[in-house]
Amino acid sequence: MKINGSISAIVTGGASGLGEATARNLASEGVKVALFDLNAERGEALAAEIGGTFCLVDVTDEESVDAGLEKARAAQGQERILVNCAGIAIGKKTASRDRHTGETAPHDLASFSKVIQINLIGTFHMLAKCAAGMLTTEPLEGDGERGVMVNTSSVAGVEGQIGQVAYAASKGGVAGMTLPVARDLSRDGIRCMTIMPGLFHTPMFDTLPDEARDALAATVPFPSRLGNPAEYADTVRHIVENVMLNGSIIRLDGAVRLEPR
Ligand SMILES: NC(=O)c1ccc[n+]([C@@H]2O[C@H](COP(=O)([O-])OP(=O)(O)OC[C@H]3O[C@@H](n4cnc5c(N)ncnc54)[C@H](O)[C@@H]3O)[C@@H](O)[C@H]2O)c1
Repeated sequence: MKINGSISAIVTGGASGLGEATARNLASEGVKVALFDLNAERGEALAAEIGGTFCLVDVTDEESVDAGLEKARAAQGQERILVNCAGIAIGKKTASRDRHTGETAPHDLASFSKVIQINLIGTFHMLAKCAAGMLTTEPLEGDGERGVMVNTSSVAGVEGQIGQVAYAASKGGVAGMTLPVARDLSRDGIRCMTIMPGLFHTPMFDTLPDEARDALAATVPFPSRLGNPAEYADTVRHIVENVMLNGSIIRLDGAVRLEPR
């Protein structure tokens, strides 16, 4: 898809980290970008800076997504690009034993479900709603493309670490949806791709002490550092522009393979 001022996009999780970098990248090429996020303060400020639209949206909530889509489409027209970056991570084991009392406890279902709701079901929710909108559009010149949707999985989706069972399940699910979504929509020229990032320097990592961050960076074979969100955004941009990329998963990780802990 040719990126220009006639194209509009929705970026979930667009107020921070990988989503923010993606929104900035697309907007710098004239794309009209709507940010779907729960963080109104950061979202409003970024939207004002890049000339986009902020929509206070919880991707797990149907009414909220519908209201966001209505606002975004009224402001900038039907989206041709969706980038799913909204997500959360938790650390909790499948079951654990208290070192002092010996008491055991299973992973609670509430927090497991919450991660699946946001990372997996929220991603699917946006894919389904945006695809339905894209199906109403005229195909673009050339290959007859109508739209492109990019999801964010994680290398933890295949190499989940200790304490990442919920996160890994959600991200494995996102990866697994990629091909069937692409197949479902192929007749109508809508592509679906997933990026599997390794370790990226986003606000998530700012809470870690410098030594912990350096230790993580050292586990990346080359380049031996955390990824820059701009490098994720460049990958999204390439996916949008390269119509042959469809139905697959791109690892973006400097060859890192996560250890058990
Ligand atoms: N940073 C990394 O190293 C890394 C690695 C692999 C995968 N990822 C994935 O990339 C995505 C972006 O991560 P990030 O590091 O930029 O994190 P981040 O915390 O900086 O950004 C995530 C954004 O999602 C928003 N969000 C959370 N729940 C939401 C909901 N229900 N509805 C709408 N918005 C919601 C948050 O408000 C936040 O702005 C996540 O899915 C994360 O799992 C990140």
